Amino acid sequence: MKATYYGHGCFGLEIGKKKFLIDPFITPNELAKNIDVSSIKADYILLTHGHEDHVADTELIYKNTQATLIANFEVVNWFEKKGVKERIGMNIGGALQLEGCAIKMVSALHSSSMPDGSYGGLAAGFVFVFEEDEVEKVVYFAGDTGLHKEMELIQEEFGFVDFAFLPIGDVFTMGVNDAIEAAYLVNADTVVPMHYNTFEPIEVELEEAKIGFEEFRFEVFNIGEEKELI
Ligand code: NI
Ligand code: MN
Repeated sequence: MKATYYGHGCFGLEIGKKKFLIDPFITPNELAKNIDVSSIKADYILLTHGHEDHVADTELIYKNTQATLIANFEVVNWFEKKGVKERIGMNIGGALQLEGCAIKMVSALHSSSMPDGSYGGLAAGFVFVFEEDEVEKVVYFAGDTGLHKEMELIQEEFGFVDFAFLPIGDVFTMGVNDAIEAAYLVNADTVVPMHYNTFEPIEVELEEAKIGFEEFRFEVFNIGEEKELI
């Protein structure tokens, strides 16, 4: 799987032949000003919840790519009114079989409202399951969440998580210590940190965080960086 970091909680994942873009918040993010949003390709845009710092560039990227929007029912309905015609609504606990990849929507402990304040349904995370070189891979993209015990269900169902994308910025989501606990709960091999350093309240000392995550592979991305995750 190839992953590209676009800053804050936004990643592009390339799984098989398909490109998934999750939580696009790029043009309002000063730290991501070198990203050329018009060059981003996507087959699917996934949104974990309705907050502005996760959905800001959805319409723009939809217009550029005609990607299918995948999010909870309330979020996709809100974007339908903004002209997003290609969309799949889901809800917590539901799974979708896409070409080469299954996606399950799992619970997050967080709020969700749309940028105009309207109801945004429940915040969620996503689990991706796919085969790479005939080996099953499991990716947990937590979205914004506090630590919660239902993360254990991911380990119960899938056994392990190869790559866990976890928020570590604290204040609005888990901080480093809770994210370490989350990595244990899902049985993660590699942790990819996100949702930190974008704004002053979520500043994190990455070197300290690295020490905290010493039991795991800790894969830090620079903004704009693309890596093959094996
Ligand atoms: Ni949020
Ligand atoms: Mn957020």
